[in-house]
Amino acid sequence: MTDTLRYDGRVAIVTGAGGGLGRAHALMLASRGARVLVNDLGSSAAGAGTDTGPAAKVVEEIRAAGGEAVANTDSVIDGSKLVEAALDHFGQIDIIVNNAGFLRDVGFHKMTEQDWSDLYDVHLLGAFRIVHAAWPRLRDQSYGRIINTSSAAGIYGNFGQVNYGTFKLALHGFSQALAVEGRARNIHVNSIAPAADSRLTRTVMTPEQLAPMRAELVSPLVGWLTHETCAETGSLFEVGGGWVSKLRWQRTRGERIGDGKDFAPEQVRDAWPAIVDFEGAEAPADFAAGMAPFQKIMEGA
Ligand code: NAI
Repeated sequence: MTDTLRYDGRVAIVTGAGGGLGRAHALMLASRGARVLVNDLGSSAAGAGTDTGPAAKVVEEIRAAGGEAVANTDSVIDGSKLVEAALDHFGQIDIIVNNAGFLRDVGFHKMTEQDWSDLYDVHLLGAFRIVHAAWPRLRDQSYGRIINTSSAAGIYGNFGQVNYGTFKLALHGFSQALAVEGRARNIHVNSIAPAADSRLTRTVMTPEQLAPMRAELVSPLVGWLTHETCAETGSLFEVGGGWVSKLRWQRTRGERIGDGKDFAPEQVRDAWPAIVDFEGAEAPADFAAGMAPFQKIMEGA
């Protein structure tokens, strides 16, 4: 490590920062000079109730360590209020870490529409509303660093988490598309899928399993991705326990079937081994690369 990455002069909004991962992100950014809006509604792990205590406590911790922070207890669903609060207190916004969330795990056959829409509201709508309210400013100042918190449950699919997984992967779709629109204005948007000890994971893992997975071992990735010198954008990372990895889409070489005018399900069946063979697979890096096979067909190649 040669120099220290600092955030002096930067203002960060960290949602759900009253505990767990958000608290660790807020403490890390503040310890390196960022002024932080510590947002947390103070709800339970299933999203019930409110409590002003958690956000206030983290602000105390930051101030005790010599940092600058202010508490905010609005729900992320009222995203524009968070943005207004950051502007009122600090006059600017540079970094947004969308981290607030809760679980409502239940088998799909028992899932209610409320279980679905509550999770949509906190994870996806909340992130949308905050970023949407801040976006004009980020564009005008030609600077922004945004993190959206995804999950392995969304990337891979997990039992009992159809609601959660759907919106967690959608958050990466949000990151990817925002990254395209933000690139020319130096607004970088990335997703992280963390694994860490928190009240959300304590219900399914033992203290012994979780001991090496402190939330603080996720925050350094947030630190790098939200730093002004980091060029990464539109990407998805898995991170936990000190391990960091980048994910990408992979596509098999694919098969052209039939004569271009018509083809039958039997031909798809017969071509199946080639269609699903990842030998020689490619990793399209952007929309144009993704569309390249269709482009070739349209050009008659
Ligand atoms: P946590 O429960 O400790 O933290 C979430 C915080 O969000 C809580 O303090 C809660 O009060 C707050 N919150 C909930 N609804 C809110 C709302 N409407 N407005 C403002 N704040 C609200 O849990 P953890 O583990 O720190 O989770 C942080 C994020 O990381 C979540 O989005 C979670 O889904 C995600 N995640 C965590 C994983 C883990 O291994 N801990 C795994 C994958 C994703």
